[in-house]
Amino acid sequence: MDHFELRDGVMHAEDIPLPRIAEEIGTPVYVYSRATLERHAQVFRDALKDVPRKHIAFAIKCNPNLGVLRVLARQGYGADVVSGGELERALAAGMAAEDIVFSGVGKTRAELAQGLDRGIGQFNIEHEPEGIALAEIAARKDMTAPAVLRVNPDVDAGTHAKISTGKAENKFGVGIDTAPEIFARLSGLPGLNLRGIAVHIGSQLTSLAPFEAAFKRVGQLVADLRAAGHSITHVDLGGGLGVPYRAGDNILPPSPADYGAMVARVTRDWDVTLMFEPGRVIAGNSGVLLTEILWVKPGATHPFVIVDAAMNDLARPALYDAWHDFAAVKPSGETMTASIVGPVCETGDTFARDRLIDKVESGDLAIFRSAGAYGATMASTYNSRSLVPEVLVDGDRYVVVADRIAAGTIMAAERVPDWID
Ligand code: LLP
Repeated sequence: MDHFELRDGVMHAEDIPLPRIAEEIGTPVYVYSRATLERHAQVFRDALKDVPRKHIAFAIKCNPNLGVLRVLARQGYGADVVSGGELERALAAGMAAEDIVFSGVGKTRAELAQGLDRGIGQFNIEHEPEGIALAEIAARKDMTAPAVLRVNPDVDAGTHAKISTGKAENKFGVGIDTAPEIFARLSGLPGLNLRGIAVHIGSQLTSLAPFEAAFKRVGQLVADLRAAGHSITHVDLGGGLGVPYRAGDNILPPSPADYGAMVARVTRDWDVTLMFEPGRVIAGNSGVLLTEILWVKPGATHPFVIVDAAMNDLARPALYDAWHDFAAVKPSGETMTASIVGPVCETGDTFARDRLIDKVESGDLAIFRSAGAYGATMASTYNSRSLVPEVLVDGDRYVVVADRIAAGTIMAAERVPDWID
């Protein structure tokens, strides 16, 4: 459920009519709903009511906007970060250092040191050399780094290949078969408090079965590690729960409640603090990308609806063939079949092919739904376009939580060498 809906024939974000944002801020622009973010945060937490000890860290890679993070910080969420930059954002947004988990397959030594200096709650170690480096850096600082070892359970998440992370051939974690020996070697190091295991098998999962298969393997590993004398107090189950992208779709992702019930059942005897890193399920349907129709141009089979948003603003369709529902801000009730494309000079700059959509004309406004996760954060300035702004709505008020960065501002950061005449 979200708070983007038609009222008197006009699409609103909570109590704000979207034409007002288009007029005052311009398009394209991302629009987030605070009430939707809060609702999703509560639903996910409620879904885990049968997990006695838990920690929820929002995967801020999916939406690192400071305003959004502040909303989630107020909901008691910590942060899952994957870079020094994300770490500083989480702190700036008011998340407590001890609630921050540092994931990421290629942390630098500088980033490990930064995490220690900031006093973060946990490092998710991706492989043995990283664990050794972290132990050395911590010991040199006379500190002990709280850490878990990320394992790769070799489970097919059944999602798009580019966002699947838990198959043996993926770059993430250590093979689950090798985990006991690596764990044994790392846990002996001064400077490291290796206290558990992490797993994350992919994103936009639409079935519970791969989660359950992976979690059961982790449960066995926890039992094996304990049998070998290790103390295991924390298990991080990652993120990955999918969201509905397409109204009327017959493959609906599992609900947070079903996910939570499965987790509670599978982990009942684990006796650990369970950690979660949800991203998309919190932010995905909390945001839309508001765009203006520039032109409607005849095509070979169907017309092209050329919008002022492009693949640089919302990369998911071009990167993953992702579906985002498209809706007119003032629908007439009529429909048309069209391809929706952006202004960028690539055929891949296509949001939808030959799709039945609300009828739109040049000058109309429309939204791409479910753009709150992996939307603005993946934007670029390709084709020397501006960096897309972001707005956060709260009831009948809104704030621009990220300015549009004009192409000229980007250009101002460049220089021509004076030795080129
Ligand atoms: N934890 C780890 C270690 C991750 O790598 C990710 C996402 C998450 C948590 C959060 O996953 P979520 O709950 O959002 O599925 N750009 C792609 C998605 C990339 C996901 C990367 N890792 C997309 O637009 O679909």
